Amino acid sequence: MDMRVKPLDAILATARRKSLHRSLGPIQLTLLGLGAIIGTGIFVLTAAAAQKAGPGMMWSFVIAGSVCAVAALCYAELAAMLPVSGSAYTYTYAVLGELLAWMVGWALILEYAVSASAVSVGWSGYFMGLLKSWTGLELPHALAAGPAWTLDGWMPHADFAAGVVNVPAIVVALGVTWLLVIGTTESARVNAALVAVKVAALTMFIVVTVPGIHGEHFAPFTPNGWFGPAGTTGMGVFGAASSIFFAYVGFDAVSTAAEETRNPQRNVPIGLIGTLAMCTVFYLLVAAGAIGATGAQPVTGAGGLPLQPGSAEFIAQCAALARSGSTPLVCSNEALAYALRAINHSVLGDIMGFAANLALPSVILMMMFGQTRIFFVMARDGLLPDGLAAVHPRWKTPHRMTIITGLFVAAGAAMLPVGQLVDISNAGTLFAFLLVAVSVMVLRLRDPHRARPFRTPAVFVVGPLAVFGCVFLYFSLPWLNRLVLPIWGAAGLVIYFAYGFRRSHIARGSVEVHELDRDAPPQPLPPV
Ligand code: ALA
Repeated sequence: MDMRVKPLDAILATARRKSLHRSLGPIQLTLLGLGAIIGTGIFVLTAAAAQKAGPGMMWSFVIAGSVCAVAALCYAELAAMLPVSGSAYTYTYAVLGELLAWMVGWALILEYAVSASAVSVGWSGYFMGLLKSWTGLELPHALAAGPAWTLDGWMPHADFAAGVVNVPAIVVALGVTWLLVIGTTESARVNAALVAVKVAALTMFIVVTVPGIHGEHFAPFTPNGWFGPAGTTGMGVFGAASSIFFAYVGFDAVSTAAEETRNPQRNVPIGLIGTLAMCTVFYLLVAAGAIGATGAQPVTGAGGLPLQPGSAEFIAQCAALARSGSTPLVCSNEALAYALRAINHSVLGDIMGFAANLALPSVILMMMFGQTRIFFVMARDGLLPDGLAAVHPRWKTPHRMTIITGLFVAAGAAMLPVGQLVDISNAGTLFAFLLVAVSVMVLRLRDPHRARPFRTPAVFVVGPLAVFGCVFLYFSLPWLNRLVLPIWGAAGLVIYFAYGFRRSHIARGSVEVHELDRDAPPQPLPPV
């Protein structure tokens, strides 16, 4: 089989013709990054991370942030060099060929669509906390969460004791889908306002909780060790890092804006590393505040082993603890609001919940937008049916693929717990980042003299570190969640050989870059 690559020169010619106005400076880039990054990871996953690592989750934030930093530096070189949409999918197409590009595009469904599901479930947790606090009403158990999943032999088995379907998560996912179908893209001004809401809420949390920290809440610091006790999977500091990685996902928004950045060699790394560093510091302070206020020791089951967050046993144990009047942080679906309420700041808890409810839909919107944009490029390349890329005559949006994406996102959000969604999404993201890091190095060797607006510093150190970090975090996931990526990948291969392999436009000898198609849907965040 010939290696089918999209010629770099064709991509670059398109990019030159497109030549977006270079208007973004480091501050706008950082705002863009914070808008896409801060979300369910810090607002919700703090509880799951504490269950996996205890107070040692502070290390997990540092480890996950470091892997993201090296991956981001690789991402930025290709993003600045190939400023066309499709991100990791397009970069891989140009460097490693069509088959791997398809696999990356297929894995990006996990990154974008499944993370949109995860953020929808996160939103739902805060929504229900707020509903209860404001009105005293609670949704029936069955409608407030999806089931817990285990394997029965090799068959997935749903345990409905935890819940049946997460209705609020479906509502928010479909609401965002509708906004996208009618052509809503978030303006830079709305993004900046929502970043302010998120940052203000987290700052308030830090200011209220950090001064009252109880040192004894930090001991033992790593109750589950670094790798988790024998007989557990995906636990310990590294296990928590592999989940909390989600809290940093979204920085690709900064890389993909490289084409609109003034002086990218200087501003892209400032934007990327600045955003990640700010997030890391913020997250560490928030984690310290949450641990210090309420404690963060894991819930254990029979034999004293920590239970997997979201599992049926974990949910049963949390329910038993709640009946005895002592819900720990690790059991909360609205970790930060819970911590504030636990130290008698219930009004601030409500404000936290309100801020999360206001800001998280924009993260869902960005993720789903990214997904439809990638599907669009894949369909126009012939790897997905062309009809999917049809643009609505009035709304000018790829409405079919937006609706399909929305239904997929809503189904995931309805049926799976947030921790599992996050891990599945992380597996896909790690795979895509890995191939981007490999692509950067391959292209440096193959085509060293090509102009690069931004060069990854010390690429043969940073690149291998990114590869190692991605592989390491992947293998730190619980094995059941790890399994989804190869199964998903195998399904992707079958679809590729049944469809894309024959329909691919490149295979038919036509090299197209669709950036300038008259009916292409808009890019995210048009200037106001
Ligand atoms: N980083 C984003 C979040 O935590 C995806 O919600």
